[in-house]
Amino acid sequence: MIRIRNLWKRYGSREVLKGLSLDVSQGEIFVILGRSGVGKSVLLRHILGLETPDAGSIQIGRIDLTSCSEEDKLSLTKNMGMLFQGSALFDSMTVGDNTAFYLTQHPNPLTQSPFSKGEIQDRVDKALDMVGLSGTKNLLPSDLSGGMRKRAALSRLIVYRPSILLYDEPTTGLDPMTSQQITDLIIATQQELQGTSIVVTHDLQSAIAMADRLALHDEGRLVHVANPEQFFEIDHPIISFFKSISKRSLVS
Ligand SMILES: Nc1ncnc2c1ncn2[C@@H]1O[C@H](COP(=O)(O)OP(=O)(O)OP(=O)(O)O)[C@@H](O)[C@H]1O
Ligand SMILES: [Mg+2]
Repeated sequence: MIRIRNLWKRYGSREVLKGLSLDVSQGEIFVILGRSGVGKSVLLRHILGLETPDAGSIQIGRIDLTSCSEEDKLSLTKNMGMLFQGSALFDSMTVGDNTAFYLTQHPNPLTQSPFSKGEIQDRVDKALDMVGLSGTKNLLPSDLSGGMRKRAALSRLIVYRPSILLYDEPTTGLDPMTSQQITDLIIATQQELQGTSIVVTHDLQSAIAMADRLALHDEGRLVHVANPEQFFEIDHPIISFFKSISKRSLVS
């Protein structure tokens, strides 16, 4: 469970988050839509503990990220994974090593002991298999297409089996078929890990396909939250715009 209350964040003179609140339940896929530059990535970085808000609280389970000890913060963030906008793979490492990276750096959260080489190989093979990249373990990110890079980034995320998964524009820049594959993978990952997912996207078809609930991020806050059927009936210029785009793309 993620519960955010009255979150404020300013960079210089620009107030980006202005009293944002949010509730996401365990097991839910919560999708955030919004115009470019409104602060969607900033919000995800706060949930991941990479940014400190000026005011407000971020409660994850029973712990408040904004006031807990460093030790609690570390144990919380270890259970989270994020697919960064732009994949953020290590260019000099193979797909296999990219996928294994987190496991080589962190102990198993269940046992606190380091992962053995065998365990790492098993998990990497399973994650690559799940995203359809089994044959690419020894390739470098530069050998991959954009869609394959997204899938490699996804395998690096799911290999650690986090309970909270954050996705920042997972399908941007991909063709419709590859977008659909990534969307299906996000849904399959959610079902497999039984986690809690927050997805920021501009891809309406993907949003509708995966969302349990949708939210509109505007003016520094989530101004509307609803399930997909109700969301597109909301009278708001940005939602109407999204709706007209989705109708057009469904017709064409
Ligand atoms: N570390 C930072 N320092 C200064 N300004 C920042 C920082 N991070 C974000 N911002 C500003 O905050 C605003 C929101 O940025 P953010 O990246 O969250 O937008 P976004 O909603 O994710 O947009 P997009 O859909 O284009 O990815 C932008 O104006 C950005 O310039
Ligand atoms: Mg962004």
